[in-house]
Amino acid sequence: MIGRLNHVAIAVPDLDAAAKTYRQTLGAIVSTPCDIPEHGVTVVFVELSNTKIELVHPLGDASPLKGYLEKNPAGGIHHICYEVADIREARDKLKASGARVLGDGEPKIGAHGKPVLFLHPKDFQGALVELEEA
Ligand code: CO
Repeated sequence: MIGRLNHVAIAVPDLDAAAKTYRQTLGAIVSTPCDIPEHGVTVVFVELSNTKIELVHPLGDASPLKGYLEKNPAGGIHHICYEVADIREARDKLKASGARVLGDGEPKIGAHGKPVLFLHPKDFQGALVELEEA
């Protein structure tokens, strides 16, 4: 069902410092910060030849990242995103197999303008999984 790894998201307490690390220390191509109010995050995209890294920082008081950074003040890997061909079909199959889909179960438009859903980490080896329709 799942296809390519679309991105790995790393929650960071200081977006400018994280962007600098990836740009200067690691020599990667790094975007300018981009606010995504619907998801309560500001994102910096790091382009790699085979995937992307997203450096994510809370935006607003209701950001889902706030709790994560309170528990992990230095930051950490927040989620991994796999591509699927048809997100609603994938969701229905996963729900039928007992996996929990977060939120109301309806895909939302993600950071790349494509529909996304999140799956409960307890059903996927402790990792928060995002699905993106490719
Ligand atoms: Co993501």
